[in-house]
Amino acid sequence: MQGGDRAARRSPGASAAGRSGFVRLTELLTGIEPQKPPINLSVGEPHHPMPDFVGPVLTQHLNEFGRYPMTKGIEPFRVAVADWLGRRYRLPRAVDPDREVIVLNGSREGLFLAALAARRYVGDRGRHPAVLLPNPFYMAYYAGAEAAGCEPVALPAKRETGFLPDYDALPDDLLRRAVAIYICSPANPQGAVLPRDALAHLVARARRHGALVFADECYSEVWLKDAPPTGVLEVAGENFEGVVAFNSLSKRSSLPGLRCGFAAGDPDFLAAFLELRNVAAPQVPQPLQHVAAAAYGDEAHVEKSRQLYRAKFDLADRVLAGHRGYRRPDGGFFLWLDVANFASDEEATLRLWRDEGLRVVPGSYLGHTATDGSNPGAGYVRVALVDDLKTTEEALHRLAGCLG
Ligand SMILES: Cc1ncc(COP(=O)(O)O)c(C=O)c1O
Repeated sequence: MQGGDRAARRSPGASAAGRSGFVRLTELLTGIEPQKPPINLSVGEPHHPMPDFVGPVLTQHLNEFGRYPMTKGIEPFRVAVADWLGRRYRLPRAVDPDREVIVLNGSREGLFLAALAARRYVGDRGRHPAVLLPNPFYMAYYAGAEAAGCEPVALPAKRETGFLPDYDALPDDLLRRAVAIYICSPANPQGAVLPRDALAHLVARARRHGALVFADECYSEVWLKDAPPTGVLEVAGENFEGVVAFNSLSKRSSLPGLRCGFAAGDPDFLAAFLELRNVAAPQVPQPLQHVAAAAYGDEAHVEKSRQLYRAKFDLADRVLAGHRGYRRPDGGFFLWLDVANFASDEEATLRLWRDEGLRVVPGSYLGHTATDGSNPGAGYVRVALVDDLKTTEEALHRLAGCLG
């Protein structure tokens, strides 16, 4: 059976953009033996040391596994998040931990379910409600848009526009039918950061047209330039109206398995979101929320991890200097490598796996293909620098050898 036929059987009706890129990658590489010991650079799972207080805090609260957790989150967690937001960002006022923070079981489920809540929350968007997302994108946005019965409108984020969508070019009629606009800064996969002015302008326009802004900020603490990226709540005005920031400890604290994150912002939307979450969302076990509260109270481990990412990108600067596709991102931990000198990004991925044992993601698997056949992810591969320095160095040298 061909790969495409198998895909159609498993998920009838699903477009390629609605399927997991990782599943497609497994289908692409199955049965091909690499010639070198494998290094997995495909998953954005940080392998940096986790903070050393995780075990002790968990032990201290073990008995709370005996309780159903409140969907909204325990107070110490919400307070820790509100305090962290106040320290990290230049906010117009303090965030109210009671009304403006909700715990999430990692940001992914929150990003997905937010589209469903948004569809109920915003007013009439006409006969063709839309959800706007960057292209390439994190799958949960697209899945959320489809589940909410909205048209996912993928906005190309190409080199010519700084690897971000050209938000200024969005037509008013599209904004009028937009239920929500997902933004991602620092962006996965390209690592581009939305400048403050562009962010403020987008928020103001979205608000004027009654569209919500959902800001995926899960890479906010992995910044590689001099200043941390602006957060959406900094430009959202006094009441955070129409704006929600999503974040988690997966990247910040190298705790992807903790499954703990938050949504913060517009209290009216969050009340509506909570209505849905109370009946449909996964709760977060209380002992894990205590660990998360401790993590938000500590910056030392975050700074250490950031320095390790910077050291890896310094290494990449040296090893990949001169490779035509190399560019150091502003943030995040991915290389977004131009492989246009190969027949396709799938071909580059196959070669990197077979010849070098490097497992990377074809860029086109992270993007949506338009009716004209264009896909802004095509011609790139995504490489996650999530391992230790030694493994990363080995991987970079193998990359350089293969990419030419
Ligand atoms: C852009 C982006 N958003 C959200 C997530 C979800 O992360 P989590 O659910 O672990 O918070 C990821 C994870 O890889 C991601 O890359």
